[in-house]
Amino acid sequence: MEPTTSPASTISHRTSTRISDDVATKELAAQIADRLRQAEQLVLPLDETLDILDQLQEFELGRFLLHNRGLNGYWTSYIFRNAPEGPVTPLEHWLLNDSLLCQARERYHRFKEEIAGRITEGAALASIPCGVMDDLLQQDYSGVEDFRIVGIDIDEESVAYARENAEQRGLSAHTEFEVRDAWKLGVDGEFDLIVSNGLNMYESDPQRLTDLYRSFHQALRPGGRLLLSFLTPPPPPPWVAPEHAAAWEKYDIPEADLRRELSIMGDIVQVTYLNFSAEDEVRAQLEAAGFTVQAVRYNAGGVLPIVTAVK
Ligand SMILES: C[S@@+](CC[C@H](N)C(=O)[O-])C[C@H]1O[C@@H](n2cnc3c(N)ncnc32)[C@H](O)[C@@H]1O
Repeated sequence: MEPTTSPASTISHRTSTRISDDVATKELAAQIADRLRQAEQLVLPLDETLDILDQLQEFELGRFLLHNRGLNGYWTSYIFRNAPEGPVTPLEHWLLNDSLLCQARERYHRFKEEIAGRITEGAALASIPCGVMDDLLQQDYSGVEDFRIVGIDIDEESVAYARENAEQRGLSAHTEFEVRDAWKLGVDGEFDLIVSNGLNMYESDPQRLTDLYRSFHQALRPGGRLLLSFLTPPPPPPWVAPEHAAAWEKYDIPEADLRRELSIMGDIVQVTYLNFSAEDEVRAQLEAAGFTVQAVRYNAGGVLPIVTAVK
């Protein structure tokens, strides 16, 4: 890979991930409360919505969501591992165990299984965006000696966590990290596998998505593989369109939980990551980028797909 400026991976950056219950959070919550009071329509009654807003300020994950309207690598890993460091509030417990967000944990485990099959002697494996890089670091490399693990993320803080993760897993000697934009990788034909989870859902422009996949294509060796997740458009809520009630069964989420989810992620947090793509669109973008789509695998309910595409 071409050298770039070395990232300053200092602990001090982490204050942006671990947000304290401070004045800035209270001010932000007051602004959100004003917006909610003026909203013409809310998923839940206003008093319930405001109560949830109060509860979100009680724990770090909730505060991070309020401030950032999405997840970084640290909190994605926190949700996937579901290993809180201390006691959790009832709302955090719900987010970690009953929400749609935590359903992505199942997909993370399918991802891991698919990656395991690609760990071979001499393999160069990349995670883009790597976040804390659990996808490649929580693997068993005991049967191989010569392998390379490369983590690329635009966020220095996430890369700092990933470095620490690699050390804890005893994999530092095999890992390299770069703070880079995934659209400007500057890598040519180096990787046997690229895994990419959690970036395309922040991008709404189809052309930018094709460009992202082209950047991955260029970084792979001929015959190399891309493992990619994407979010398919969910049906309208069953209380809005009862004809879609059956489609919601795939998500296996009770209506009360779905209402709470939409209230938190939609009305309160207004998450920025909800850019959905249909399978046809993802296939077309990958093909335009030069890939051959080999498989699109869904979970048992028929949601949360993973694509395998080959260069
Ligand atoms: C939801 S996290 C997913 C991280 C990891 N793949 C996982 O599954 O845990 C999204 C990550 O994308 C990174 N990111 C956002 N924009 C990026 C860009 N243009 N290039 C590279 N990484 C980016 C963020 O810093 C963050 O770590």
